[in-house]
Amino acid sequence: MTLPSKMRALIQLHDGYAGTQTGPDIDDIAPFVALRDVYVPTPGKGEALIKVHLAAVNPSDIHFIKGEYGQPRRKGIPAGFEAVGQVVGGDTPLIGQRVSFFATASGTWAEYALTDASRLVPCRADLAEPDAAGLLVNPLTAIALFDVVRDSGADSFVLNAAGSQLGKLLIALGRDHGIKPIAVVRRAAQAAALRDLGAAEVIVTGDADPLDQARNIFKTLSPRVLLDAVGDQFTADLFFAMPAQARWINYGKLATEAPVLTQLGQLIFQGKEIAGFWLTRWLQQTDPARIAEAFSDIQKRFVTGRWVTDVAGIVPLSDALSGLPLALVKTDGKAFIDPRQ
Ligand SMILES: NC(=O)c1ccc[n+]([C@@H]2O[C@H](COP(=O)([O-])OP(=O)(O)OC[C@H]3O[C@@H](n4cnc5c(N)ncnc54)[C@H](OP(=O)(O)O)[C@@H]3O)[C@@H](O)[C@H]2O)c1
Repeated sequence: MTLPSKMRALIQLHDGYAGTQTGPDIDDIAPFVALRDVYVPTPGKGEALIKVHLAAVNPSDIHFIKGEYGQPRRKGIPAGFEAVGQVVGGDTPLIGQRVSFFATASGTWAEYALTDASRLVPCRADLAEPDAAGLLVNPLTAIALFDVVRDSGADSFVLNAAGSQLGKLLIALGRDHGIKPIAVVRRAAQAAALRDLGAAEVIVTGDADPLDQARNIFKTLSPRVLLDAVGDQFTADLFFAMPAQARWINYGKLATEAPVLTQLGQLIFQGKEIAGFWLTRWLQQTDPARIAEAFSDIQKRFVTGRWVTDVAGIVPLSDALSGLPLALVKTDGKAFIDPRQ
């Protein structure tokens, strides 16, 4: 296949970190990325070049372009972490294969992306493109976090931002394994759909007495794990209302406020714990056989309908500057960028 020398891409406009903490909301991406024609990256040893079919837009991408994520920005390099595409070059036997991947060298909001060849995940032919484009970040995190839930030995767990794509994957895992999800959301409109999906209880933070509701639920269900993507005061209060030995696993910072930890003594006297989870670290520390098994399970779950990707919008790369913020307003599904349009 003859490759072009130039490609269209949304390139980063800044280096390093911003030192701010403004959260994943964004109404204008122009201060952070620009649509430019740049050279197609050249794969080096151990790298693969992929023609991108469809790229996901996750909260981590928005934290990243704003300079508020766990790794520094690189000015001039395309943004975008995950996608599906076809391998078109590089140091890999997978040339010609459709793969899901996480871009490590040159990002996915572009016609071509560059990544570590050892991280390519070949896709089943019957896997839909939006499922394949979002196959890694959220599904793998759901599997990893659900392992923590299973290890807790409790027959329930608490999760917030439960209407997020990742929250819905976790609720479906709870449903399928008989471990009751106690879902926390801020919008009452999401409650019925989450109950239908498998949530045993739904707590709406905007209700008059959400903490009292939680205390009553905890008396019956005794969850041991709180999966938290929000990190606000209600989450801290919820944790201190949980039974002894509870673990608060923070994996996201959707809220910008800093919670006050009012009952730290519970860490001493009730054996409670607070920890963080980052998929990047989990991938480095986890047995490759477990990761391969997870990818097989993940694809099977999507193909058989046990997991569903809700699509908020597919934005052409050429319109991303105006179209992406509009697609991101719809929080009940994932936004994608199509570099072929
Ligand atoms: N640590 C890791 O390795 C890792 C890996 C994957 C994902 N994550 C994190 O997981 C979280 C969910 O990701 P996703 O892709 O599933 O998200 P998503 O589908 O884009 O959904 C975002 C959700 O967050 C809710 N939300 C936003 N701001 C909020 C706030 N201040 N308080 C309460 N809820 C709020 C929204 O609720 P509304 O509908 O009410 O707006 C929406 O349901 C993100 O924080 C992401 O960074 C972390």
